[in-house]
Amino acid sequence: MNEITCTIKDIIKQLFNVDIDVKINRPDTRFGDFATNVAMQLTKEVGKSSREIAEKIIEGLQVSNDFEEVSIAGPGFINLRVSAKLLANSLDNTWNSTYGENSDGNNKTVVVEYPSPNMAKPYSVGHLRPGNQGWAVKRLMEATGWKVITDNHLGDYGAPFGIWVTGFLKFSSEEALARDGVYELGKVYIKTKKALKEEKENGGSELANEVQDWLIKLEKGDAIAKSYSQRFNKISLEHIHNVMNRLKISTDHELGEAFFAPKGKEVVDKLLNSNVATQNDDGSIIVSLDEYGFDVPLLVQKSNGAALYATTDLATLLYREENWHPDKVIYCVGSEQQFYFSQLFAMAKKLGIRTELYHLWFGFIDQLNDDGTREKMSSRKGVVLMEELLDKAEAKAREVVKSDNVSEDDIKKIALGAIKFSDFAADRRTNILFDWNSIFALTGFSGPYVQYAAVRVNKILRDNEISLNEFDYDYKPEKNVILKLLEYPEVVRLAANDLEPHKIATFLYELAKDLNRYYEATPIVVGDVSCMEKQARLNLLQKVSQVFSHGLSLLGIEVPCSM
Ligand code: ARG
Repeated sequence: MNEITCTIKDIIKQLFNVDIDVKINRPDTRFGDFATNVAMQLTKEVGKSSREIAEKIIEGLQVSNDFEEVSIAGPGFINLRVSAKLLANSLDNTWNSTYGENSDGNNKTVVVEYPSPNMAKPYSVGHLRPGNQGWAVKRLMEATGWKVITDNHLGDYGAPFGIWVTGFLKFSSEEALARDGVYELGKVYIKTKKALKEEKENGGSELANEVQDWLIKLEKGDAIAKSYSQRFNKISLEHIHNVMNRLKISTDHELGEAFFAPKGKEVVDKLLNSNVATQNDDGSIIVSLDEYGFDVPLLVQKSNGAALYATTDLATLLYREENWHPDKVIYCVGSEQQFYFSQLFAMAKKLGIRTELYHLWFGFIDQLNDDGTREKMSSRKGVVLMEELLDKAEAKAREVVKSDNVSEDDIKKIALGAIKFSDFAADRRTNILFDWNSIFALTGFSGPYVQYAAVRVNKILRDNEISLNEFDYDYKPEKNVILKLLEYPEVVRLAANDLEPHKIATFLYELAKDLNRYYEATPIVVGDVSCMEKQARLNLLQKVSQVFSHGLSLLGIEVPCSM
């Protein structure tokens, strides 16, 4: 809002011969469109009370037609109501095809890691939030001038392979695998884990030994073990990619734990030699984090020499430093791992890594049951698989649109819009409530509600030709919509700075609401509308359409053609 700050700055210069940067904010709408506390900042330099200064500034402002109402509140806050025309001009002056974006990131490099599922089981809703939030953060960083590198840190290392083969031979068959693919592997995995647990409780070890044997065979390069590993991995990876495609998310790299395990062991050896790590009597290796306030050390190698989660993460950190030289690394991983990451980051400090490391975590997804009770979604036997969730969402989307003319592609966009938008209903740290009815509600905070507003604007723009770009029009009925659009760049800036994509969702929802109120009050293109009015309004709607598409795309949501 340079038009306003400049005017006030000039008045202050004229009145008091002082140069000051004027900051304005949005007060409660009852008081005005904008407010500034600049009078309070000037008391020392000007040598007058803030109220007197404010009165002088207000006198200066009253001369202009653009300031419709100016008043003083409290000790010298200045409240301003400005003309819609001034706002429209202001919007025009800052408008371009990438409206909302900025270059705050200065081309610095950020690594964003998501969704990082585990290979042993089918993709579950447990990795819904890492994917959604990760993608939105990637988009936000791109929109604010960062160089973004994305990496899918697959959980593809260790025991699962041994468990898979042992279980496959014992509990499954080629037919079942051919039929159910990764779902069969998931079943085998769970069944075998259970059998291993029972065996251990009964003091046995036959099955456990078999699991170990397969792992050793694989390490030694045994041909049969290798062929199993390749086959199972391929099935699982194809499934992960399918699901990611359906979620419309992707990453530049896919360097999983298995890639880093051997590197991790090398690093641990080095740490041992340089006395950063110490070996326990049982052979396990730890890094003490005393000096960072942790009384528990970080275990970086098991007593049998096997790599651990922290071993692979250690190597991952160093690999990224060496190859990508990031300024910041963002790990999009659930809240359960908060303590682990705080340890990992302390270890990074101990190793002299200065890169800013950030654990972007989120709360659980709760599900609202038919009887009104609430429970953690992934604990339910019902919908836990990502593919089932997507299928169900698509079926729901079909119900919502009711019309037969909506393409399958649009149905998918609506389904994803509903799922993803609900992920941004509140600060990511809070648990979200997944209620099938409200996430599709065309009347409340939902993806489809915003998508519908965008579709409606786009339809008006399709049905009416824009033939003018300059008009003499007061924009009075459009004032709220314009004020909202003017907020967008600051919303993007804040969402990116604070890594809080939900701020974009809130903004889009409010824009949709403002727009609906506007439609209700104003016949935009029909009835008693002059050509000039119509053209001015269509031009504004074009901006609204662009902001809807842009904002939704920051959240990984597309605008359907119709719905
Ligand atoms: N695969 C892990 C899980 O599902 C998440 C990996 C997180 N990233 C990391 N660098 N540790 O729990």
